[in-house]
Amino acid sequence: MTTSNHRTADHSIDKLFLDRWSPRAFTGEAISEADLLTLFEAARWAPSSYNSQPWRFLYARRDTPAWGVFLDLLIPFNQSWAKDAAALIVIVSSSTMLPPGAEKPIPSHSHSFDTGAAWAQLALQATILGWQAHAMVGFDLEKAFQVLNVPAGYRVEAAVAIGKVGDKSTLPDYLQAREHPSDRNPLDRIAFEGGFPPA
Ligand SMILES: Cc1cc2nc3c(=O)[nH]c(=O)nc-3n(C[C@H](O)[C@H](O)[C@H](O)COP(=O)(O)O)c2cc1C
Repeated sequence: MTTSNHRTADHSIDKLFLDRWSPRAFTGEAISEADLLTLFEAARWAPSSYNSQPWRFLYARRDTPAWGVFLDLLIPFNQSWAKDAAALIVIVSSSTMLPPGAEKPIPSHSHSFDTGAAWAQLALQATILGWQAHAMVGFDLEKAFQVLNVPAGYRVEAAVAIGKVGDKSTLPDYLQAREHPSDRNPLDRIAFEGGFPPA
């Protein structure tokens, strides 16, 4: 299976999985609130331990008062390209959950795992709508905690830039060379029947 971006899958999968990628050249086009809420809606339906839904999405659309606050959180490298995104999202997760019948919250083993599933659904929905979502850990996690009023008990997981793919000529030369969908390790290096092979 191949796709328009020259990625090739070894087994037959929906082309959506190949079409999603993390560009840095964005057009600067704004995103509607409706499209953004559709991304969060896709994330909302992710599975989670005890259906605890630990994910939270803090966001700013470009040309709104919060935009500068979110852009300022990013390291300069990420700022240099994410400034042309349409929206910035900071994803946080609750580290506790209230299982059915419990009287008080207990620590969640899987809050980051669950929130990763929600992020993946958001990213795929973005691709479906003609946007792309580019995740980042290159930002000031501590500052995000403070300026975004993140309550105690939450973990700041990642930031995400949403944008329309732009012309790579808008990027500096060294980034133009990297501006293409990446490949993946072969399946026989990541999936093992019966457990890891003996060392
Ligand atoms: C949690 C996470 C953090 C990332 N952090 C950054 C980042 O700070 N800056 C950046 O340019 N790309 C970042 N990336 C993008 C990855 O480099 C990219 O997803 C990976 O190379 C695979 O490429 P693809 O998404 O185009 O398939 C991050 C991705 C993830 C999932």
